[in-house]
Amino acid sequence: KKADMSVSRFPLIPVRGIPLMSLIAKNWDSIWAFRPEPSDLLIATYPKAGTTWTQEIVDLLFHNGDAEACKRVPTHVRSPFLEIFCPPPIRSGLDQLKEMDPPRIIKTHLPFQLVPPGFWENKCKAIYVARNAKDNLVSYYHFDCMNMTQPDPGPWEGYIPKFMRGELAWGSWYDHVKGYWMEREKRNILYLFYEDLKENPRREVERIMRYLDLSVSDEVVSQIVELTSFKNMKENPMANYSCISAAVFDQSISPFMRKGEVGDWRNHFTPEQSKMFDEDYVKQMKEVNIPFRTLI
Ligand code: A3P
Repeated sequence: KKADMSVSRFPLIPVRGIPLMSLIAKNWDSIWAFRPEPSDLLIATYPKAGTTWTQEIVDLLFHNGDAEACKRVPTHVRSPFLEIFCPPPIRSGLDQLKEMDPPRIIKTHLPFQLVPPGFWENKCKAIYVARNAKDNLVSYYHFDCMNMTQPDPGPWEGYIPKFMRGELAWGSWYDHVKGYWMEREKRNILYLFYEDLKENPRREVERIMRYLDLSVSDEVVSQIVELTSFKNMKENPMANYSCISAAVFDQSISPFMRKGEVGDWRNHFTPEQSKMFDEDYVKQMKEVNIPFRTLI
């Protein structure tokens, strides 16, 4: 594939203290001004927590498990990424959303305080997916190696402290998971865990279905669980990001659908790194008790 010279590893620029890709920071006012419709659904995550998986489950629920309907176009077209701005020909999330009728399934990685206030004013539903810090970090490391629009991750041992200090794109994982956790009751946010989805996808699909006030048959739930297995999504060209140019996502470095497991951190952290990470984790998470699991 021909290299697109306009793609580069964009620097991060802070927006109200949160490091974001420079193109997002430059367009911040238009993102903040976005007005959703009350029927729109927000899927919010820290990067690499299970966004694509949840987008696929939700699209299938909206389409009563119709696999063909959900292969109409790739994930990022079916479910636009609210704040994304890339060089042309890649269209911004805002431009895509303008052309779609509600209810739209809108993806964001913005921390709670940066979500456009229109979502809460219009009482939009929102699903938050959280993944345990160590697996989330490992997944983000591999993603930063292959995503040519984000800063170079550098060596693994230096990446861990960057994550701990909140210097990666979209900021601190700790503040992100805490921000939505504190607001979940007030804003009626469905707060899910990647580990729960892995452990019992059927239970979680049904939980999402009830939250969305949808009702599909048991058979359709089984079909959705099957269609959204790691293996099936990895092979689905409309869910595995294979349509994105290799100049942007170089999947020869690391596939988007990389491993899809809980506990892969054990293959990356040395015992010393794990100890140092855990000690800091206790400090950063002391004011909340979010039931994360690093193994299932
Ligand atoms: P790994 O890098 O650990 O494999 P996001 O969609 O938020 O970018 O998250 C991507 C992560 O979710 C990747 O994790 C990817 O493999 C995993 N993932 C995507 N679809 C999945 C599925 N159906 N089942 C399990 N994990 C999935």
